[in-house]
Amino acid sequence: MRPIIAPYPAARPRRLRRTPGLRALVQENRLSVSDLIWPIFVRDGEGVAEPVPSMPGVDRLSVDLAVRAAHEAAELGIPVLALFPYTDPALKTETCEEAWNPDNLVNRATRAIKAAVPEVAVMLDVALDPYNALGHDGLVRDGIILNDETLEALERQALAHAEAGADILGPSDMMDGRIGVMRAALERSGMPDVALMAYSAKYASAFYGPFRDAVGASGALSGDKKTYQMNPGNSDEALRMIERDLAEGADMVMVKPGMPYLDICQRVKERFGAPTYAYQVSGEYAMIAGAAERGWIDGDGAMMESLLAFRRAGCDGILTYFAPRAARLLREAG
Ligand code: PBG
Repeated sequence: MRPIIAPYPAARPRRLRRTPGLRALVQENRLSVSDLIWPIFVRDGEGVAEPVPSMPGVDRLSVDLAVRAAHEAAELGIPVLALFPYTDPALKTETCEEAWNPDNLVNRATRAIKAAVPEVAVMLDVALDPYNALGHDGLVRDGIILNDETLEALERQALAHAEAGADILGPSDMMDGRIGVMRAALERSGMPDVALMAYSAKYASAFYGPFRDAVGASGALSGDKKTYQMNPGNSDEALRMIERDLAEGADMVMVKPGMPYLDICQRVKERFGAPTYAYQVSGEYAMIAGAAERGWIDGDGAMMESLLAFRRAGCDGILTYFAPRAARLLREAG
């Protein structure tokens, strides 16, 4: 479709920018609270909200306060909370058993949230890094990240999270074959309704730094994640990864990070038309929140503009640490 545009002065595009009402009338894309997924960090203890230094305004919350956040999400209309654990370093091993401990932090938090606020969906990441003494998403032997051995561990982790009541699993590990393994395990275990949001096009990115601080994985990580996460120079490869994950049974797909990869979001949505999400990651959050804190940028303005950009690129929703703040602004704007 090619819009017809008359030459000036018959066409004066500024006519439709003249008033707020006219601008709203012709606005093509909108952000709504139902597009938001709110990632939170969970830690041990009670009544504890511990600030994450590299993410101004974000705290690690004990389970009771995570439940309070879930009430807040419900009240604001945020449909999904994504939980990430800050695991006690003493529980991290090279075999990562804590990942499928039914009573690990995120499983406890999920049970508590689903009991108190069942209408808020809980999404849990499936990857070994928060539990791995070596900081990697997969099992490591002699410095090599093992694919097929990792799949067995991820299957256990996925089932433990589903049994704890997770509505959505987010495999973020980038091992080959994981979506098919998890989908089959869920079917076999009588949990066919658990949705998979595949971190399909996940790039090896410098923008994850603050997250690794938040979950306590920075110190542990030996080397980088380039043998499993994607090369930022690639675009066609992202389409192949999305296609593969959809074929293996993913219900939703994700591009990550977000803002530096809007071109990928757009190609993915155009090509597959599947439910497509972007993760506005910790480093993106830190850039906006950090600059705003110093008075260098209009924080709310930059936040809303960045979130709208995902909708314009075709995303159905966004994982963002700004979720509660954006939800409040959307409500005020009516
Ligand atoms: C773990 C995982 C990461 C993020 C989500 N799940 C970090 C990583 O891959 O190192 C990053 C989220 C963020 O930066 O906000 N597999």
